[in-house]
Amino acid sequence: MSIQSFRPKNWKDYFGQESVINNLKVYVSSAKTQNKSLDNILIHGPSGMGKTSLAYLIAHVMNQKIHILNGPSLQKPSDLISTLTMVKEKEVLFIDEIHAVNKEVLEILYPVLEENKMSLIIGKDYNSKIINLKIPEVTIIVATTELNKLPVPFTNRFAINLHLKNYSKSEISSIISSAAKKIHLNFTSEFSDILSSYCKQTPRIAINLLKRIHDYIIYEDNEILSESRIKEILLKMNIFEYGLNEMDVNYLSIVKEYQPVGVETIAHIISTPVSVILSVVEPPLLIQNLIKRTSKGRMLTDKGITFILKNNFY
Ligand SMILES: Nc1ncnc2c1ncn2[C@@H]1O[C@H](COP(=O)(O)OP(=O)(O)OP(=O)(O)O)[C@@H](O)[C@H]1O
Ligand SMILES: [Mg+2]
Repeated sequence: MSIQSFRPKNWKDYFGQESVINNLKVYVSSAKTQNKSLDNILIHGPSGMGKTSLAYLIAHVMNQKIHILNGPSLQKPSDLISTLTMVKEKEVLFIDEIHAVNKEVLEILYPVLEENKMSLIIGKDYNSKIINLKIPEVTIIVATTELNKLPVPFTNRFAINLHLKNYSKSEISSIISSAAKKIHLNFTSEFSDILSSYCKQTPRIAINLLKRIHDYIIYEDNEILSESRIKEILLKMNIFEYGLNEMDVNYLSIVKEYQPVGVETIAHIISTPVSVILSVVEPPLLIQNLIKRTSKGRMLTDKGITFILKNNFY
């Protein structure tokens, strides 16, 4: 079953992000009452938090077709123009990973966002002229994990700006229970609660871990689950307490050995880009209070040291 099948189709299937959802319900209802297109929306937040799912959900609750484009594949103006000429009034044009869009393509979007028009340059050099094409009132939704890579004048042009934040353990637990139902897995709320501590507060990790547990159940032909069996399966996949993986453990062992240590040094030792350490590895370790950032470098907290010693990771 692909991750696509777990995407929420109704408001009630989308857990957490309460204030984002409550505000969106108002905007959607108002647009529908006025029979207008929804204003343009920018969604940002860390990976696996539900940005793409939210864009699909918005199109769904607006009962509109969604045209999907991906930032990395929009490298020349014609990649975007062909879709822009196809979108009809009130439909949704969703550009995922907008930070990866080429600058020239981004420039086409400015007049589209502001005045629903597309300015095209026809011909070459002194024979060239600009023609303006009107575009129907559509809703442009863009999503990004890297808001800082987008120019402020661009992000300012989105009337609705949504920031997805971390999920609580109980919200992750609800996402797990709901996904378990979709794959007809008998997973009690007690099991969902246990698994939710291993998901780094991220829905995608939660769904992926649940799917892997399902694989083990099928492979071992044994449907009887217990807390110890779930933990055993997680260990077989090298998923440790707090949902840490081998890379996290590696990071913590290095910090323990060299602390205080700078992030560049850690990145060098584990051959991982600094940007990945900063945006993927460290946030869950900071949230779990396993590491601390000091002026001299990264250090383990007492909790971090206990984790390393308890598991013999040194
Ligand atoms: N609030 C939520 N409620 C229920 N399921 C969710 C929620 N958020 C995400 N999911 C599920 O988690 C998975 C990952 O979500 P999604 O692909 O939307 O994340 P994303 O923010 O777009 O990540 P990326 O930045 O890596 O593209 C999907 O299967 C989705 O259905
Ligand atoms: Mg996405």
